[in-house]
Amino acid sequence: MFIFYFIFIWFFQFSTGDILSEAPADQEHLLKGEQDWRTWAIDRLWEEREKIGHTPLIKYPVKGLPNVDLFIKNETSTPTRSLKHRFVWALALWSVVDGLVNQNTSTYDSTSGNTGASEAYMYNAIGIPYYAVVANDLEQAKIDNIEKNHGKIIKTDVSLRNTRAKEEAEKNKGFYVNQFGNAEKAEEFFESGDYKYESSNVFHEVLAQINDDKSVKRKDVDYFVHSAGTGGTISSVGRYVDRYNLPTKIVLADSEFSLFYDYVIHDRFTNESGQHLWKKPGVAGIGYGYDVEPVLYGETTSLIPSVIDEAVKIPDIATAAGLREFNARGLDGGPSSALNLLVSLHVALKKAKSPKKISIVTLLNDPADFYRNNYFNDTWIYEVFRERGGIDAMNCWRKEIASTLDNGTNFLVNGMRNCRPK
Ligand SMILES: Cc1ncc(COP(=O)(O)O)c(C=O)c1O
Ligand SMILES: *[C@@H]1O[C@H](CO)[C@@H](O)[C@H](O)[C@H]1NC(C)=O
Ligand SMILES: *[C@@H]1O[C@H](CO)[C@@H](O)[C@H](O)[C@H]1NC(C)=O
Ligand SMILES: *[C@@H]1O[C@H](CO)[C@@H](O)[C@H](O)[C@H]1NC(C)=O
Ligand SMILES: *[C@@H]1O[C@H](CO)[C@@H](O)[C@H](O)[C@H]1NC(C)=O
Ligand SMILES: *[C@@H]1O[C@H](CO)[C@@H](O)[C@H](O)[C@H]1NC(C)=O
Repeated sequence: MFIFYFIFIWFFQFSTGDILSEAPADQEHLLKGEQDWRTWAIDRLWEEREKIGHTPLIKYPVKGLPNVDLFIKNETSTPTRSLKHRFVWALALWSVVDGLVNQNTSTYDSTSGNTGASEAYMYNAIGIPYYAVVANDLEQAKIDNIEKNHGKIIKTDVSLRNTRAKEEAEKNKGFYVNQFGNAEKAEEFFESGDYKYESSNVFHEVLAQINDDKSVKRKDVDYFVHSAGTGGTISSVGRYVDRYNLPTKIVLADSEFSLFYDYVIHDRFTNESGQHLWKKPGVAGIGYGYDVEPVLYGETTSLIPSVIDEAVKIPDIATAAGLREFNARGLDGGPSSALNLLVSLHVALKKAKSPKKISIVTLLNDPADFYRNNYFNDTWIYEVFRERGGIDAMNCWRKEIASTLDNGTNFLVNGMRNCRPK
């Protein structure tokens, strides 16, 4: 009897190759040192959340559109100078909490620069190495920002960034952060009040700021306008708004040859690449075009079509013109901020005759000084927009945009008519 029992146990173990841990001897298996590190790292990250505080919300008067309240959240006033600082905070916290990184992990990601600088900063804050996989022609100012924050650079062809980052991580037994696929897991969309562990959702902050501002009478926001890189920010706002049944409409601002517009509106490019449709320069940091892979939610994007109400495309040359005009008026953001502002103006123009005042919130994503060598450089503009009318066409758009700001005319209608190449 005893022998049969023994053989049974032996056979069972042999056949499955597996045994359960014994209780209670095995119950302290969580490595003490590892738990200490996690506790420390999570505390460090909450200190960083406190440092972000609330980024400024600017109320920007538009003379030509007096029935519009335009609010611009200045995300460039974070330690790494872009909207990605808040996002990467959440991404790093997620990777620690979910046990995807520990004190021995090296981290790798594909980035157009801003996420890279924030990832370098945040992983450095918790003492682990970070490698940014970037396009060969990335702006030097962004490379400097990554290196200044203790990140290392790996350069590759723009279309191979994701594959390369994944390969480097595998080769070195590190963690491929994959901001594009994982933003939706990391970004927060729950309300927190002003609790110590305050939500990092950007719209939570906007509403708190509007509520506290006595000069603002209406506390509702009619539109939130934003462009998508990972799609993480706009989707986190869309989820937040939908979850609490808020009246805000979510408007995606897209670049001329990006696939996101068709992905959101017509459910396209989820089964095939649209790489062949891409044309330079696009708008730095946003859009979906040069990737070899289709738009795959949770893998190559975190943009959720169901939480987007409208999408608007703007010609790239108009965005370049907008960048220059907005900067001349003190709105010192980069090209994706200019795109956000142009789409905000477009939304405002559609409602210009409405008897009711409307409110629009958008973001200043990153600073203009990252783009001195390209968007502010006439030679570069001439080269990338040669077929689209070059400097003359850009200046034509710029006049139309100025006229919208001062006189309420329609830059998109007038620009399409008047600023085509001769
Ligand atoms: C300059 C700039 N604008 C906008 C975005 C878009 O933000 P998100 O990735 O949350 O969609 C990015 C993201 O990389 C960016 O770098
Ligand atoms: C945004 O904040 C940055 C950093 O504080 C500042 O340099 C910049 O001028 C601000 N932009 C606007 C439009 O207020
Ligand atoms: C990390 O490395 C240290 C030193 O080599 C080692 O003692 C520890 O077990 C490692 N921890 C993990 C989770 O790999
Ligand atoms: C993707 O789907 C569209 C629409 O259903 C179809 O026309 C197209 O042929 C598909 N592409 C591939 C590569 O299967
Ligand atoms: C301006 O752009 C041209 C063309 O891309 C480039 O060769 C030149 O170095 C740029 N100049 C500056 C000051 O960045
Ligand atoms: C706005 O209209 C006035 C009066 O017609 C004109 O003088 C001015 O140049 C216009 N402003 C812009 C920026 O076009």
